[in-house]
Amino acid sequence: MDASHIDGDLVNVLYTEDDIRQRLAEMAAQIEEDYAGRDILLVGVLKGAIMVMADLSRAFSRHVEIDWMAVSSYGSGTKSSGVVRILKDLDTDISDRHVLIVEDIIDTGLTLSWLVSNLSSRKPASVEIATLLRKPDALQMSVDVKYVGWDIPNEFVVGYGLDYSEKYRNLRCIGTLAPHVYS
Ligand code: PRP
Repeated sequence: MDASHIDGDLVNVLYTEDDIRQRLAEMAAQIEEDYAGRDILLVGVLKGAIMVMADLSRAFSRHVEIDWMAVSSYGSGTKSSGVVRILKDLDTDISDRHVLIVEDIIDTGLTLSWLVSNLSSRKPASVEIATLLRKPDALQMSVDVKYVGWDIPNEFVVGYGLDYSEKYRNLRCIGTLAPHVYS
């Protein structure tokens, strides 16, 4: 789905499909350099990270392993609740593994700060975070993020995995949702 298919729902397009592909390729190159000689386990956080995981993982020119967690941090609205529950845990034993969490967005930081602490308790060799988007003005909990695609304003964004009430995940670009859609 393109922005033209949801005319009026977006205030603007922040990043096109090409922008995203290019930025993820840069991030993958940096990650490859940093992890030279070490195996990587990419841990995607469902559902928002599906597109980032698909494109970031394919941008590597080396092997990586992929696993998924599902956690719940939001209701169906636009605000973080701060309540985190595991809906689906990893299939992989991460002890002594180099874990790289793959996220679409860090908003308040509550989900990731909880997740890093949860995964760290399983004795991995390392845990780092790669996120496509981060909202510095929304942060409520400081999170150490090694790889960030872009810092964005504190506005409601959708597309490329990011939803509003489970819609817009299949939008190719990332855009700012028009307030009339959610108010
Ligand atoms: C989003 C995103 C992060 C979390 C970040 O997921 O994928 O996991 O919110 O928000 P925070 O920094 O305020 O904790 P969401 O809970 O919307 O679920 P989804 O990935 O299934 O859309």
